[in-house]
Order: sequence, then C-alpha cells, then structure tokens
Amino acid sequence: HSLRRATSASQQSITCRNLSSSSTPHRKVAVLGAAGGIGQPLSLLMKLNPLVSQLSLYDIAGTPGVAADVSHINTRSEVMGYVGEDQLAQALEGCDIVIIPAGVPRKPGMTRDDLFNINAGIVKGLCTAIAKYCPNALVNMISNPVNSTVPIASEVFKKAGTYDEKRLFGVTTLDVVRAKTFYAGKANVNVAEVNVPVVGGHAGITILPLFSQATPQANNLSDEVLTALTKRTQDGGTEVVEAKAGKGSATLSMAYAGALFADACMKGLNGVPDVVECSFVQSSITELPFFVSKVRLGKNGVEEVLGLGALSDYEKQGLEALLPELKSSIEKGIKFANQS
Ligand code: NAD
Ligand code: LMR
Repeated sequence: HSLRRATSASQQSITCRNLSSSSTPHRKVAVLGAAGGIGQPLSLLMKLNPLVSQLSLYDIAGTPGVAADVSHINTRSEVMGYVGEDQLAQALEGCDIVIIPAGVPRKPGMTRDDLFNINAGIVKGLCTAIAKYCPNALVNMISNPVNSTVPIASEVFKKAGTYDEKRLFGVTTLDVVRAKTFYAGKANVNVAEVNVPVVGGHAGITILPLFSQATPQANNLSDEVLTALTKRTQDGGTEVVEAKAGKGSATLSMAYAGALFADACMKGLNGVPDVVECSFVQSSITELPFFVSKVRLGKNGVEEVLGLGALSDYEKQGLEALLPELKSSIEKGIKFANQS
C-alpha cells in the first residue's frame, strides 16, 4: 500500500496530547499538487503554521517523500502523504481548507489561458472530489488560469449541490505581494508597512493594482512611475517565467503568498476579527459574477466583499479595459464545466 503514514505512533501521541491541552482549534489543511514547484515550499510553510493541526499532502506522484521529509519538522501538525486518485478521499476527508496548486505552469511565450486545456480538467476532477469528501472546506484555488478555474470550481460545486460562494477563493495574493514590493522600492518606504489593494482578476491587464490607495501614501510618484509600477505588477508572473527560461513559473513567492492567504482563511475561521485580503470571489461589485477585491474573512469564509473605493482616472480606465477579458475568461470556465 502506497499510503504513507509519515509520523510515528509515539510522535502522534505527543501531537495529540499537545492538541488536547491547547485552545487552538483543530484544523486540517490539504495541499493538492503538494509535490510540485509550489506544492513543496507551500507544504513546508503550512507545516510551520501553528494554526494547522493536520497537514494532508496529495499529488499524483512524489508525496510520500515530501510528507516524510516535512513531517520531521518539530511543529504542531501531523503530516500525512497521499498519492494517486484512490487516496484522494482520505486526503480530503475532514478538511477545513483545501489549497490547490495542481496543474501545469507556463513556459516563456505562453499566456495563462494557454494552460486552460490541461488545467481545467485537473481542477474539475479535484473539485468533484472536494464536493464529495469535504463539501464544507474553504477552497483556495491557485491553479491557472485562475480567472477560469474558479468559475469551473463553482459550476462543479453547483452541479453537486454543495456550492457555497463564501467558501471559494481564487488566490491572487501574489499580485498584492508584488505590488507591495515594487511600490516600496519606488516610494522609498518600509516594505513591511506597505499595503496595496490589487483588484480585477489574475492575468495581464485584468490585474489592477490600486496605487492611489497604497499606504503609506507617497506623493512623490509621477504618472510615469505609477504606470510603470502598474505594468510591472501586471507582468510580474511573466517576469519570473522568462527568468526561469522554461523551468516553470513563480513557485517560492507563490508558496509564500499561498501560505499567507491560507493563514488569513484560518484566522477568519478561528474568529479573529478584521481579517481582510484581496481574493477572486463571487461578487456583485461589478457586472461580472467573479471579481478580485478586498474581502473580509470570517467563520464561514467570505464575511463581506468590500467595494473598490475611490479610483484615480488611470485606474478607472484600467477597470473599464479589463472587464471584457475577465468576462470572457469567466464564461470560458463556466462553459467548460457545463459541456464536459
Ligand atoms: P508544477 O508542475 O511544478 O507542479 C504541479 C504539481 O501538480 C505536480 O507535482 C503534479 O504532479 C501535480 N498534479 C498534476 N495533476 C494533478 C492532479 N490531478 N492531482 C493532484 N496533483 C496533480 O507546477 P507549479 O509551478 O507548482 O504550478 C502549479 C500551478 O499554479 C500552475 O497552474 C501555475 O500556473 C499556477 N500558479 C498560480 C499562481 C497564482 O498566483 N495563482 C502563481 C504561480 C503559479
Ligand atoms: C504568477 O502570477 O506568477 C502565476 O500566475 C504564474 C504565471 O504563469 O505567471
């Protein structure tokens, strides 16, 4: 049997004693695609998170090794590795959060939409299993094209009768991470204090950073600099794809961003107040059914989808320009889920 129980019985009993004496709730988190470029560092970062009590690492290959490796780290969670479809049910049962970085990454010259043909099917299969084995879990979708994979997930869940719009998230935290880094560099402010909302979607011009709302405010940035910052944020993924020259896309910064977002979801579930992150969620703040904006996270997932706030003229133009592309990516996902 290829199922790997990665913690020994003695370690497990220690884990259980620690858990029962702790007031931190039990939280099972699964990473689907855990042996991949994102999956491995993300598994590491989730193992370091004290809010996680059970870490379930699933992939079609390679997870026993990743789970054995990560399980030796002396932190709270019990780590289990699952490999192959016949172990997917066990990987998912009882999950509070399922993070999905499964699927192929871009190579130079490709758009995220070029990944659709392969990743749409992968996401559909995994979401079908989520609907069956952990219908109440919060789903953090990382697999690209996010603008289409999130609508695919919603349709799969609707068909299964398990859809809850509060529990489905497209992970766009990396756009925020990039916008913060690039802004801090130009504004000459402490990057640790920077906040920048990034709205819209997660591909090219659909990524719309709102530097007019960035804090701390920098009044010294010219229109040219703001345009360059916007463009760099929109092309951040491509910058990494080109630098990796055929060896994939962002993995380490994505693992960091994915771990931040999952941590925010867990804090929300645990009742921590005022947890706000940008995410691609079901939304009525524009005419599109899904949109990235700030979202308040709570005990049931999305507590409130926050509006866009005041936009500069440049940002208003960016918003108008992104709507058609985002609309067609959403429709493509919905159509795929209902056709196949
Ligand atoms: P990778 O090829 O290194 O890893 C993908 C993993 O998924 C592999 O281990 C593979 O075995 C696994 N996999 C494939 N089919 C599977 C299935 N049916 N079930 C479970 N696992 C399966 O790729 P990566 O660099 O980790 O990127 C993964 C995805 O994340 C890509 O689609 C990429 O475009 C996307 N991504 C998204 C963001 C974002 O901001 N949302 C950022 C970076 C990458
Ligand atoms: C990113 O923004 O880095 C990811 O979406 C991966 C990619 O293909 O750019």
